[in-house]
Parts: sequence; C-alpha cells; structure tokens
Amino acid sequence: MTISLSLFDIDEIGCVMCNQRNAGIIGVGSAVPEKVLSNADLEKMVDTSDEWIRTMTGISERRMAADGEATSDYATKAAKIAMERAGVKPDSINLIIVATVTGDMQYPATASIVQNALGCKNAAAFDLGAGCSGWVYALAAANGFITSGMYDYVLVIGADLLTRVTNWTDRSTCCLFGDGAGAAVVGPVAEGEGMLGFDLGSDGSGSHVLCIPDGGSRRPLTHETLDAHKDKTHMEGREVFKFAVKIQGEATERLLTRLGMTTQDIDMLIPHQANIRIIDSAVQRLGLPKEKCYINIQRYGNTSAGTIPIALDEAIQEGKVKKGDTIVTVGFGAGLTWASGVMKWVY
Ligand code: ACO
Repeated sequence: MTISLSLFDIDEIGCVMCNQRNAGIIGVGSAVPEKVLSNADLEKMVDTSDEWIRTMTGISERRMAADGEATSDYATKAAKIAMERAGVKPDSINLIIVATVTGDMQYPATASIVQNALGCKNAAAFDLGAGCSGWVYALAAANGFITSGMYDYVLVIGADLLTRVTNWTDRSTCCLFGDGAGAAVVGPVAEGEGMLGFDLGSDGSGSHVLCIPDGGSRRPLTHETLDAHKDKTHMEGREVFKFAVKIQGEATERLLTRLGMTTQDIDMLIPHQANIRIIDSAVQRLGLPKEKCYINIQRYGNTSAGTIPIALDEAIQEGKVKKGDTIVTVGFGAGLTWASGVMKWVY
C-alpha cells in the first residue's frame, strides 16, 4: 500500500520516494588526522596481532586526532573543501547538519560550532545522532528540506573522533575505530538527477549492544564508572555483526525494489566501513563485482558517521564515479539503526 501525501509517497514500511523538485550532492570533501596508528602500534598496547586484525576486520591502520583537536575541526575542514568544490559560498548555506556521536561537547550542537567556524551566518544548525548510519540519515533529512522548497543549500557532514571514546584496554574494540569527517553540499538539481529514495530504520531493542553506557542522563559519570571505562564504547561485536550482515542487503534490496530498480542498476556501492567481512557479505548478497564497491577500511578503520562520505569523496577523486552513475550508500550502527540511499550522480 502506498499513501500519497503532498510532498512524498510513503509506503507501508517507511521507504520515502522523492517526487518534488530534486535534490542532489553538488560537492564533497573529507578530512582525516595526520597521525597514523598502525596495527603494529596496537600490538604494543594490547594482546593482539596485525594478522588477527587484518583477517578479522580488514583494517591495517587508522587515523587519530591530536590532543586538543575536536570533531568540529575535521567537520569544518571537510565542509570547506565540499563548499569550494560545489562553488557555494558560506552565506548561501541555509542549514548545517552534523551527524556525530562524538560531538565537541554534550551541548551545544557541534553543527553550531561548525557554523561559526565556516562563517555560515544564514544557516540553521543541528546535530543528528544515528550512530554510523547518521550521515545517510542526515542526507535524507537534507533531501526533505530541499525537495519541500524550505531550503536551497544544506551542508551534510558526518564526523566522529571515535578514538576519543575507545577503551584502549579492550582488544575486542580498540583495533576497530578511527577519526575523520566527510561532508557534502546538497542543493537543487535537474529532474531525474540526485537523490531517488531512502530506506531508514531502527531496532531499539538492540540499543544496549553498541553504546557508551555512562555519562548520559541515566547514569551520570562518577569516579567508579570512569575507572571501569563506562564512558567508552561498549560493543557486543557478534550481535552487531549478525545485524549488519542481514540489514545491509535487506535495506538495499527493499529500496531498489521500491524504486523499480535491481542490483544490476548499481554502478557503485559505498558501504559503511566497519568490517571487511560485513562489506564482502553485502557485495556477495547483492551479486556485485568487487570493483563496484568502494573500500578504504584498510586505511581508516571505522570512523562512524565519517566512513560513507569519506569513501564517497575518495571514490570521486579517484575517478571511480561519473555523471549519471547510480550510487547506493548503506550504513548501520548504534541504535541499532540502518540507512540506505540511492542517487544518480550529478557531476
Ligand atoms: N586480537 C586478538 N584476538 C582477539 C581480538 C584482538 N584484537 N579481539 C578479540 N579476540 C579474540 C577473542 O578474545 C576471541 O577469543 P576466544 O575464542 O579465545 O574467546 C576470538 O578472538 C573471537 O572473538 P569474537 O569477538 O567472537 O570474534 P568475532 O568473529 O565476532 O570478531 C569483531 C570480532 C571483529 C569485533 C566482529 O564481531 C565485528 O566486526 N563486529 C561488528 C563490529 C561493528 O561493525 N561495529 C560497528 C561499530 S559502530 C560504532 O561503534 C559507532
């Protein structure tokens, strides 16, 4: 069943089909810290090995922000590059959304700090927390603001410094995470181009399997919780793994079906970079040749909301995406959430 609304068609499982003026990405940028933390470095910190990390996760190294740096620093750098490439001046940005779970402070929103750093004085600003799915969620939100006619130019940033919330004594998580940011300028585009649709979802029954347990309103920090590393990421890796393997394929296939497309239509898959085995399973399930999936997990690890826009930026810079290509982005993360999106590349 499809319910027709004035702005969107929403089907019974929550897929949103865009049918007003089109919105699309018109510029992308990314920024990662200079400091490299290799698997050899981790071997000196916990009981692990380069071979275990590469075999089980696909990660060889990750980037780590310097002391004193914050998420907004990388969000701002990535956004500046994206705006320059899009040819959009700070004054023209109407809204900044920063998808993050590691904002500079509990509040205000990191997006407000980025707004000030960029001089986007006409922009509204808010953060969006949907874990590693956050950037695709933010893209869907930007799409809604633009297709409805409310805004023209939205900065959609995915930025996280996950090494700030990593328990460096826990070998099962500390080898997975890195720092970085990616940004896109989203604006009005010609009919038939840009964003075609999204499949967003959440299964809150899994909220405890991937979380920072303490430091929020339920359990404010105490000396005891700090000593027990409860202010750092807690992850039940196998549960997240099972969820990820299932949901990436499901969400992508469901969305393609709603759009009257098939996996044959995909020119490039840009998946969340959390584990090479999870990426490989998605590629296999969708029946894609390997060259149609962009992978950079070996260099950056999991940068949460940063992985998809960083990978998209690198795919474009390397000439792996061209005008008219059908790009699929798909992510999963804390919540547990998922998000897939399909777009026709604009430039
Ligand atoms: N080095 C060596 N051995 C290790 C390490 C390590 N770094 N970590 C775990 N092991 C050991 C375990 O102790 C265990 O040993 P045992 O069999 O003697 O008990 C063995 O390896 C297997 O451990 P599992 O945790 O069961 O291994 P699994 O196959 O589940 O792989 C992994 C672990 C890589 C973490 C996997 O579960 C995973 O990738 N899960 C998904 C992670 C993910 O996508 N997270 C998203 C995070 S998003 C966010 O946080 C914002």
